[in-house]
Amino acid sequence: MAKDVIIALDFSTKEEVFKFLDLFKNINRKPFIKIGMELFYACGPSIVKEIKQRGHKIFLDLKLHDIPNTVTKAMKVLSNLDVDMTNCHAGGGRLMMEGAIKGLTKVDGSRPILIAVTQLTSTDQNTLEKDLLINKDIKDVVMHYAYNSKLAGLDGVVCSPLEAKAVHDRCGNNFLTVTPGVRFADNDKGDQKRVMTPEEARIIGSDYIVVGRPITQSSDPVNAYRRCIKEFLEEDL
Ligand code: C5P
Repeated sequence: MAKDVIIALDFSTKEEVFKFLDLFKNINRKPFIKIGMELFYACGPSIVKEIKQRGHKIFLDLKLHDIPNTVTKAMKVLSNLDVDMTNCHAGGGRLMMEGAIKGLTKVDGSRPILIAVTQLTSTDQNTLEKDLLINKDIKDVVMHYAYNSKLAGLDGVVCSPLEAKAVHDRCGNNFLTVTPGVRFADNDKGDQKRVMTPEEARIIGSDYIVVGRPITQSSDPVNAYRRCIKEFLEEDL
């Protein structure tokens, strides 16, 4: 199964994006790129096409969550962008996730990888109980949402690398775990609380690691990316 390092391009302007991507012109690997809401809403769908044209794979992280019919139609529009991975909230329920798959699937049966957000990492036990009136242990809720995503036919979930093993145990090793919250051993954690190194994420069985600031804010982003590839994929660039 394909494993990869995904760089989170958390920039808000095209100029910053292309200045950053230009740094990678002279290495023999095109990084897999994550485009989030900020960049997508600031620049529009053309930013996806332009990055794609440069030969990068793209994870479009828009976390759709609406009634099934609307999600189906929105995913149909997104499927024209030919991204490689996208996502929706498992909290929308089985029908919504099935609708997402329906919208994304092209007439030839192909579609991007579709993964679910279980509970946001900003949601803690207190938020769950007080705001969402869910009186269950957050770990059980995350695992239930992951399993529900699998039943709906999705390919995997976004989760902490610390949850990757439990998700594989519950949903099978072919169910993808896409894990942010990655830091080098000698890095600042920033606002991420529960982190793992790329090497630890490999050992625990993450399928894709999503790495933002340890690469984008590094004084040498290409070298930081190289280090991720070495630790996570055990390959030299
Ligand atoms: O800079 P950093 O490596 O923390 O970036 C991680 C990326 O993954 C960001 O784009 C962040 O929004 C995203 N993410 C996350 N935790 C989640 C889901 C997405 O950090 N649970």
